[in-house]
Amino acid sequence: MKKKYLFVANWKMYLSFEQALEFAAQHYDDFIALTKDFACPIIICPDFTSLTSLKKIFKSTDILFGAQDCSSHARGAFTGQVCAESLRQIGCDYCIIGHSETRINAKHDDKEISNKFLQLIAQGISPIICIGEQEEDYKKGNVFQVLEKQLMGILSRVSADQHLYQDLSICIAYEPVWSIGTAQIPSQDHLNNVFSWLADKVKKNNKTIDWKLIYGGSVAPENIGFFKKIDMIDGFLIGGASVDFQKLKKIVQ
Ligand code: PGA
Repeated sequence: MKKKYLFVANWKMYLSFEQALEFAAQHYDDFIALTKDFACPIIICPDFTSLTSLKKIFKSTDILFGAQDCSSHARGAFTGQVCAESLRQIGCDYCIIGHSETRINAKHDDKEISNKFLQLIAQGISPIICIGEQEEDYKKGNVFQVLEKQLMGILSRVSADQHLYQDLSICIAYEPVWSIGTAQIPSQDHLNNVFSWLADKVKKNNKTIDWKLIYGGSVAPENIGFFKKIDMIDGFLIGGASVDFQKLKKIVQ
C-alpha cells in the first residue's frame, strides 16, 4: 500500500493577501484533484491575514489549514500576537511553531515554544514543531545535542492526560537550518540516523500519541524521491516550492 504522506505548504510571507487568494482561485480545481487523486493530506499555511478567506474558498474540500505561528499566551497585552483560541475559532487544524525563521527573527526560545505547544493542545490544534541545527553545529557534529535540547522542552510537557491528544497529530518537523531555501540537503545516512533517533525519542515519551515525523528544507520535485526512501519520514514541510503549483503537484505525485 502507498504511504500516505502529509504535505505542509509553508507559504511564509511569499504571497500578499491578494496574491494568496489569486493563487487559490487559479489552482482551486488542481488542489481538489490533488487531494482526490493522491489521498494525501495537504495543509496550507498562509499568513494570518489570508487564513479566513482561504478557509472559505476551500470550504467542504479536503484541504486543511495551518497557521505559521501562535502566541505562547492565552490572552492579554501582547501587541501583534495571535492566540491559539482565535486560530481554533477560524478553523485552523494545524499550527507551525518554532520555525527557525521565528527562532532567529523573533527570538523565540525553547521555553516559549513549549508554551505555544500547550496553548495549541488546549485548543485542539495539531502542532507542527520545527527543530533543526545550524550549519556550524552540523559541521561540528553537535546535531543530536541541539535536537535533544529543542525537543526536550516539548516532550517534558506532554501530559499523561491521553484525552488531550485523542484527535490530534503531533508533528515534529526536522528542518536543518542550513538546508532551508539553500538547495543543500542532508545525506541519506544523516537522515536515517536523525529520524531513527526521533522515532525512538517520541515513542519512548508516549506510545499512544499520533506522532508524525516530517522533513523540511529545500524539498523539491528533483529530490522528493530521495526523501521518500527514508522509511521513518511521514511527511514534508515545503517552503519555496509550495508557492509554485506545478512544483507542489510534482512533489505530492
Ligand atoms: P524551503 O523552506 O522548502 O524553502 O527550504 C522550508 C521551510 O522553511 O519550512
